[in-house]
Amino acid sequence: MIVEMENINKAFSGNQVLKDVFFSLEKGEIHALMGENGAGKSTLMKILTGIYPRDGGNVRVKGRDVSYAHPKDAEDDGITVIHQELNILPELSVAENLFLGNEQTVWKTGWLKTKEMNRLAEEQLAELGLHIKATERAGNLSVGKQQIIEIAKALMTDADVIIMDEPTAALTDREIDTLFEVVRGLQAKGVTFVYISHRMEEIFSLCQRITVLRDGQYVATQVIKETNFDEIVRLMVGRELGGRFPDYDLQPGEVKLAVKGISREGEFESVSFDVRAGEIFGIAGLMGAGRSEVVESLFGYRKIAIGTVEIDGKPVIFKKPVQAIEKGIGFVSEDRKSKGLIVDFSVRDNISLTNLSAVSSSGMMLRTKEQQLYEELVKKLGVRTSGPNQQAKSLSGGNQQKVVIAKWLGIKPKVLILDEPTRGVDVGAKKEIYTIMNELAKQGVAILMVSSELPEVIGLSSRVGVMFEGKMLKILDRHELTEEAIMHEATGGEKHVRQ
Ligand SMILES: Nc1ncnc2c1ncn2[C@@H]1O[C@H](COP(=O)(O)OP(=O)(O)OP(=O)(O)O)[C@@H](O)[C@H]1O
Ligand SMILES: [Mg+2]
Repeated sequence: MIVEMENINKAFSGNQVLKDVFFSLEKGEIHALMGENGAGKSTLMKILTGIYPRDGGNVRVKGRDVSYAHPKDAEDDGITVIHQELNILPELSVAENLFLGNEQTVWKTGWLKTKEMNRLAEEQLAELGLHIKATERAGNLSVGKQQIIEIAKALMTDADVIIMDEPTAALTDREIDTLFEVVRGLQAKGVTFVYISHRMEEIFSLCQRITVLRDGQYVATQVIKETNFDEIVRLMVGRELGGRFPDYDLQPGEVKLAVKGISREGEFESVSFDVRAGEIFGIAGLMGAGRSEVVESLFGYRKIAIGTVEIDGKPVIFKKPVQAIEKGIGFVSEDRKSKGLIVDFSVRDNISLTNLSAVSSSGMMLRTKEQQLYEELVKKLGVRTSGPNQQAKSLSGGNQQKVVIAKWLGIKPKVLILDEPTRGVDVGAKKEIYTIMNELAKQGVAILMVSSELPEVIGLSSRVGVMFEGKMLKILDRHELTEEAIMHEATGGEKHVRQ
């Protein structure tokens, strides 16, 4: 065993989040760590890597008892982690982010070998299928590209244990394939991985063993080949879940949102589609196809240069998001850190912010109303918090996403736009979110969803518009929805095949 953790305990201000947890890694394996949102996966890995101290238990690495006081100590022992939260510094360049803390300097002089670092950075990223300039400002990149930089950073450290905490949450299938090739290549060289993901397909294709946590407790460790999807779900949630998606029973009505030939230079071109009351309209496509750019412009985050947008048949122009909100549009962003949550605010305040009219009266906050709304939404979505005052940033990743969605449910918008609504959300909570989306649609809300998870797009949507290089090439009807059909269009359709 290269890593052994026994009887690990951890509490945050009295809230016990790990109870006698056991976890071990064999050299050279890819070990999945699964559990519902808030089960304690990230916390366990933060204890292993010296980010949090443990309250009790033992950690042995390569046969030695260790108690790392700092992540640097773990790195010195060859253990590195790709965190669930991105740690990209937006003002720095791509190469500066990659080499942060490991800058290469000319011997003795301390001069930075900038050219050399830029070249190495571009090489490393190209191996992960990302072809960008090392001098580009990291903050200008999409979440998916930032994620690839984080991965490259860990892969460059020469570690022999690499912990990946939901590395693929922001990646699409093609990037995931490339990442898996790189991971398997390193495994062949003896590198050990911990792989945290809520995407069951990934676990089965990549990992050899799996450990499941439930509610801060160790449940089981199994050999992947000897288990299956249903068993793992049962171990995770402690009950049968039923189908993965709600039964499809939507009956689309009149057009709520009409998008007519909108363009923005370099981002998207003559995109047209409409979303009806009572339907879920999916937008699929590969990373960089322009999906987020389109929906962000519908919400006023970006200005539309050409084309028109109508709500209930009337043209609208949004220069900023508040104007979209006033017209009854809700928006769940793919980037919860900068557009979704105010991480330093409490969970309750985050919910109240988008629901001010419901919880205030002539500028005064109505505390009981606020509390009621908080309780209603937290219960509806099964958000795990220690209370209304918990800071949003200390929630587990998946629970943060639920709060982002909860913010909009209070408003009951006419049109609800969701960009990657279940990123980082566990199977049980995914089902809850799907059910809520389906319920809202049945109540007449027009739902527009961008998603990279094909099973989700197919399981929920009434129709799917597929984007390729900034254009919406094709709109598929529900009966035409298969993974093959969507991927065919997402990679350029007929045009691509003929090449
Ligand atoms: N710094 C902190 N302060 C207070 N509570 C915390 C802190 N970090 C984590 N927690 C709590 O510990 C519990 C476990 O969180 P953790 O992030 O480990 O879950 P997770 O299994 O990684 O979930 P997810 O799948 O959502 O990422 C949660 O209830 C969370 O609110
Ligand atoms: Mg986590």
